[in-house]
Amino acid sequence: MCTYRTRLAGATLWLAMLGLARPQSMPADTETPPFTTLYKWKHIDFEFPSERHRSYAIFNGDYVPANVLPLGLEVYGSRIWVTIPSWRRGVPATLATVFRSGGINSPRLRPYPDWSFHRAFTKNNNCSGLTSVFRMNIDNCGRLWVLDSGQIDSQDSPKQVCPPSIVVFDLRTDTPIARYVIPEKYVLQDSLYSNIVIDSRREDCSDLHAYIADTWRFGLLVFRESDESFWRFTHHLFYPDPLASNYTLHGLNFQWTDGIFGLALSPLDNYKERTLYFHAMSSYREFYVDTSILRDSYRVNDSATEFKLLGESRGLFGQSSASAIDDNGVMFYGLVTRDSIGCWDTRKPYQKKHIGIVAKDTTTLIFPNDVKVDREERQSVWVLSNRLPMFQAGPLDPDDYNYRIMYADTVEAVRGTVCEPIVHTYREWHK
Ligand SMILES: *[C@@H]1O[C@H](CO)[C@@H](O)[C@H](O)[C@H]1NC(C)=O
Ligand SMILES: *[C@@H]1O[C@H](CO)[C@@H](O)[C@H](O)[C@H]1NC(C)=O
Ligand SMILES: *[C@@H]1O[C@H](CO)[C@@H](O)[C@H](O)[C@H]1NC(C)=O
Repeated sequence: MCTYRTRLAGATLWLAMLGLARPQSMPADTETPPFTTLYKWKHIDFEFPSERHRSYAIFNGDYVPANVLPLGLEVYGSRIWVTIPSWRRGVPATLATVFRSGGINSPRLRPYPDWSFHRAFTKNNNCSGLTSVFRMNIDNCGRLWVLDSGQIDSQDSPKQVCPPSIVVFDLRTDTPIARYVIPEKYVLQDSLYSNIVIDSRREDCSDLHAYIADTWRFGLLVFRESDESFWRFTHHLFYPDPLASNYTLHGLNFQWTDGIFGLALSPLDNYKERTLYFHAMSSYREFYVDTSILRDSYRVNDSATEFKLLGESRGLFGQSSASAIDDNGVMFYGLVTRDSIGCWDTRKPYQKKHIGIVAKDTTTLIFPNDVKVDREERQSVWVLSNRLPMFQAGPLDPDDYNYRIMYADTVEAVRGTVCEPIVHTYREWHK
């Protein structure tokens, strides 16, 4: 703990000297160095059109505060996007924003792009709005790619009210510009498309592909925007490890047989290529594949040897949720049974001596669920922690802060740790 605090004090001083410290009306919440807690909530509330709307939504069950769990996040410009899947009754909006500027402890969420896209206000749902969003990713052309499962009340009595789809928003105008329905032949019984990453290298995004994880039917779906086509890889490395499917945290024991989930794209290498690192949620291992394989629809049946095991196991309690890589090639990932954020410099071998911990906290980092790196000049790693297993096991304590959005400068976060990059050509050590 001591080393974290010293490191943070140094970083803050350094930023202050350069006049870069974020102006705030509220002192920064630095309970988990090197992370700053931007927001924390006991329960999630929304900017309803009026108090009367809020009261009515509570009265008729469209808004049940205890059932609203934030899951995914994305950061762009002055805003942060938060997803809230419709797992239980009473989720009035499934995608929302908050400002990045902070200054308030627990801001109300603003439905994105507005209330008319959300179920509480569109009773005759014809699937033109949003149903239940898990995760999302923003491309380098200012567009938000939203993965909508189309299913409601998943924990009570699942109803597939709309087909699973990708919905794309233009963030300059906050309007939907496309909706791609995932073809039925790729939606297997109990498929759960839970995570999406966008890969484009051209400035105009004309080469855009999306990689989408099917966590329960162990597939990797690829979408190519140019001709709106989909194809699907399956592989044994997408399966959960039975020995890692037994979770224990904070005295709670549960079994999840979740397959491929974490997806992280490397920066471009010397050959203008990228590697996709991936792992099953119920696994202590990391794997990788060259994206040139994924982008080739002709390789779906003959690429088994292209998906590869990376280095060593993370060891017991090494289950990892989401992961993301910054421009220096450092990966950050949630260690859900260790209340921690892990790190690894992708140029170094994936071995225990090279994988580190950026932060650990048994209060603020209970189930770090989503991890993203933003696109600013000085990048930050963003974490959303949400106590998901406790939410599923019973109501969360309404008097406790259950959900947090935290961030840390990616360079400062790994300074002095085994993840601090040594300047080398990308992948020099790796291949
Ligand atoms: C769906 O409903 C919305 C709002 O009622 C309406 O604007 C839109 O035209 C409808 N779309 C279709 C395809 O019927
Ligand atoms: C699962 O974890 C619990 C708690 O740590 C332990 O008691 C149990 O033996 C484990 N079961 C298996 C099959 O590993
Ligand atoms: C892959 O195999 C499936 C099932 O045999 C077949 O339908 C499909 O055409 C094959 N795709 C390619 C690109 O070879």
